[in-house]
Amino acid sequence: MLDTMTFTKAVGGLCGALLIFLLGKWAAEELYHVGGYHGKEVAAYVIDTGEDDAAAEEEAPVDFATLLASADVGKGEKVFGKCRACHKIEDGANGTGPHLYGIVGRTIGGVDGFGSYSGALDAVAEVWTAENLNGFLENPRGWAPGTSMSYAGLKKPEDRANLIAWLDTLDD
Ligand code: HEC
Repeated sequence: MLDTMTFTKAVGGLCGALLIFLLGKWAAEELYHVGGYHGKEVAAYVIDTGEDDAAAEEEAPVDFATLLASADVGKGEKVFGKCRACHKIEDGANGTGPHLYGIVGRTIGGVDGFGSYSGALDAVAEVWTAENLNGFLENPRGWAPGTSMSYAGLKKPEDRANLIAWLDTLDD
């Protein structure tokens, strides 16, 4: 005969067993994670401990001003080999593109003797600061949609910094 007391004990026992089972399962999973056999969970752990933040900081790009300050002008002159087909650095010597004498600090689209500006460049900004050149040279068509400069862009920040530093020496 099942009286209330027995029933309560039975339920209590079941609950206890369930609790122990769940605790055991949880403990096992924790150990499992710490052991590092479970890819996804381990990744979650790493984020929690902040190790990921440290890694991201190490990989964070150095800001452009810093790169420019330590730029290698000699290397920059070599990078200009990628521009020579269309640009000259002598004042007034325009080719497919406008001459680049004194380009750092120059008015955008400002070479009077160059007749074929697209109008896309001076729609973006007024002066070729190092920052504007950096943005334009990284991705010409991204920075100035519609530009007639058919050049894919210089992807390496160091290349851009070295080149811009060298260009900046031309009118010194
Ligand atoms: C295939 C030819 C070509 C190549 C290669 C090329 N450019 Fe140009 N560049 C042009 C043309 C054309 C323009 C004018 C773009 C416009 O008006 O939209 C221009 C414009 C510019 C301007 C703006 C000048 C001004 O007076 O406002 C700069 C700066 C510039 N180029 C730098 C470079 C650099 C640095 C490289 C090499 C990394 C390079 N270009 C590679 C053709 C080229």
